[in-house]
Amino acid sequence: MGLYLRIEDLDLRDKAVFLRVDINSPIDPKTGRILDDSRIRAVKETLDALSESRVVIGAHQGRPGDEDFTSLKAHAEMLEAVAGRRVEFVEDIFGPLARSAIKRMGRGDITLLENLRFASEEVLDAPPEVLARTHFVRNLAPLLDAYVNDAFATAHRASASIVGFPEVLPSAAGKLMERELAALEAITESPQRPCVFVIGGAKIEDKVPVAKSALERGYADKILVGGMVAKVFLKGAGLELGREDERVVSKKAALVEMAKELVGKWGDRIAMPRDVAVKADGGRFEVPVQRMREFDTSMDLGRETIEEYASIIRGAGTIVANGPMGVFEEGGFEIGTRALLEAIAGSKAFKVIGGGHLAVLAQDLGIAGKFSHISTGGGALLKFLAGGSLPALDALRRAAERFKPKA
Ligand code: 3PG
Repeated sequence: MGLYLRIEDLDLRDKAVFLRVDINSPIDPKTGRILDDSRIRAVKETLDALSESRVVIGAHQGRPGDEDFTSLKAHAEMLEAVAGRRVEFVEDIFGPLARSAIKRMGRGDITLLENLRFASEEVLDAPPEVLARTHFVRNLAPLLDAYVNDAFATAHRASASIVGFPEVLPSAAGKLMERELAALEAITESPQRPCVFVIGGAKIEDKVPVAKSALERGYADKILVGGMVAKVFLKGAGLELGREDERVVSKKAALVEMAKELVGKWGDRIAMPRDVAVKADGGRFEVPVQRMREFDTSMDLGRETIEEYASIIRGAGTIVANGPMGVFEEGGFEIGTRALLEAIAGSKAFKVIGGGHLAVLAQDLGIAGKFSHISTGGGALLKFLAGGSLPALDALRRAAERFKPKA
């Protein structure tokens, strides 16, 4: 952990602590039910370590405009079961309701604030010193003694709750944050080569730059792309995508340009799909990538690509995987994601997977025990392992310099 403080470095007994966690979870859009509680369970150790403090929890769920952008009411119930203590949920973030709830708290009490992203200041893009002056931070900080960040999965976001509070409060990393960093530092210090990154999923704004960083800094010897990420690379390589995919990718010209440059410079280290699965007559149908333009969208890797990727995985010394290879929720299109996850599980490499989708699938397949580490982080995991700096860690480091720990 080096330069960051840990919970034990601060005297937090009877103190009011703002605990930032990442309990952003998959939600059933129809029922609003939380489908996977692993991120909620992962907070337990830190809650136990803070059992004599007054713990004010801040967290987010989804993003404005998305289907899973919901209240944290259901999360509070699950947190309560995990903590084994009552969790008071307040439908407020930094207004009078939240402030009076915090003032009422006693030793061992836990209060969960409403989804922090309901407040516009949480998603404000500004430097830490500006975020420290938001109404959010200024209204709560006087009621707090310390800040603990256990939200490894949000460590790549420079939001007010991640970098604002450490500017003004003594701050430490939580237990989950420590565990994640310890597991991942083992890879960055001496990765077994070749190091293979498997990058899929939909968050292309995060993942294309991560691929660039991993290649430029030499962290990745090979990158296998799938999902929406693969489409950006295929477009960058000059292919015409399906109609719907073209529509999505046309709005991301800068990312396509970045992918094009990467393919030009590091083409031998980027593996792209040769064939894909599309939906035709209601079923799975495989075509070479040159024929994608005849369909709306591609939904999975084709078998030839799966075999090529699996053979690269079998020869790897370290594997880092995040994001599905296609629309794996839909029957018939889970084949690529599932086959690669099984190939990773069966390899002798040091293997880390992250992000909700792969972790849940590994559980469902009964192979979760085969990975060296299952990270709660997706984008944060990739960014860290690609050599990028994480705003959350930079903020904790600055706070450690500013606030001296107990003697
Ligand atoms: C995640 O699930 O990756 C984290 O909670 C961060 O979410 P975000 O990508 O919406 O910022």
